Amino acid sequence: MIKINENYSKLKASYLFSDIAKRVATYQNNNPDNKIIKLGIGDVTKPLPPACLEAFHKGVDDLASEDTFMGYGPEQGYAFLREAVAKNDFASRGCAISADEIFISDGAKCDTGNIQEILSNDCIIAVPDPVYPVYVDTNVMAGRAGTWKDGRYDKLVYLESTNENDFIPAPPDAKVDVIYLCFPNNPTGATATKEQLKLWVDYALKNDALILFDAAYVSFIRDETLPQSIYEIEGARECAIEFRSFSKTAGFTGTRCAYTVVPKECRGFTSNGEKAMLHPLWNRRHCTKFNGVSYPVQRAAEAVYSEQGKKEVKDLIDYYLNNAKIILQEMKKLGYTCYGGENSPYIWIDGKMDSWEFFDLLLNKAEVVTTPGSGFGTCGEGFIRISAFNSVEKVEEAMARIKKVL
Ligand code: MLT
Repeated sequence: MIKINENYSKLKASYLFSDIAKRVATYQNNNPDNKIIKLGIGDVTKPLPPACLEAFHKGVDDLASEDTFMGYGPEQGYAFLREAVAKNDFASRGCAISADEIFISDGAKCDTGNIQEILSNDCIIAVPDPVYPVYVDTNVMAGRAGTWKDGRYDKLVYLESTNENDFIPAPPDAKVDVIYLCFPNNPTGATATKEQLKLWVDYALKNDALILFDAAYVSFIRDETLPQSIYEIEGARECAIEFRSFSKTAGFTGTRCAYTVVPKECRGFTSNGEKAMLHPLWNRRHCTKFNGVSYPVQRAAEAVYSEQGKKEVKDLIDYYLNNAKIILQEMKKLGYTCYGGENSPYIWIDGKMDSWEFFDLLLNKAEVVTTPGSGFGTCGEGFIRISAFNSVEKVEEAMARIKKVL
């Protein structure tokens, strides 16, 4: 008899963004002539930076000749990209991360989901609330989350992020083994200071825990006093894995390229309490299950770090940050309390009503798609998230429509 993984039956019906897409499709089917504006899922709309496109084309051309053709590449990624990442994203911030600690992949979503495969099934997992649903769902699939009761899984430890703690949870009194952190945060747009991250690194070192640090939105940080990497905090090499992505940085959501950093000192423990390094485990997992990102895509990602690429990426992010500013200003003018949107593409808005009700109101009356905060967790109830990923014209139009409705 073929038995299924029954942990899947413990998942909530479907992935948040699929639920939203279904509601939007239903509305669009019923109103085929109406023009919906999407400020829901954080998907970029601007084309790839020209420097990346040029490198992408050249990468494709390399495949056209026997002299420059590339077959299987190294699963961990080509040295040219890993070295560019180490130099530009880490050495430039004073973080000692070497190229062979970087694993190129096809997405931070996949990596944050897959990383738990190298951890024991009895690890106690802490997740922020509100939370990017992938951290929770992948642990449900693995059987670590327990059962769903009153809006939460009973074996997860929830780190409540509310306006009372500026959406930056402090380490819990309880002992947990794995902690997911995401800064700039999805969905609240909150950013953490060095002092706040240090509390977590100290906690992880003291409790033999591991931090899974998702920095997919790091390129939106404009405040120079904010840390960009967990490795800016002393001791983090021993207790933290960091995830980054070219998706939101350089428009690679469709192209796919990201990376995960597993420092060589980063440790776990065997059931006997002996230290066991995570780098070889992730390397083994990556080589066994992943065939690498395609060569032209890695060439395109490398171009993010060229002088021209850096300038173009900055302009691209400035463009979305300007959208965020418009959304923030307009929603504040309408009397809403808003968070994020300054070093982040997400604006977290206290809707003063049920999240899905507010979502439906904006969809049905303003034809603007947002994301209901409750889809990210109990603490998201009453909020909606508006994303800055769209053209400035559409953002302005969306805000004008919302103003009429509210
Ligand atoms: C989001 O809207 O939260 C993100 O686009 C989801 C993702 O990057 O997977």
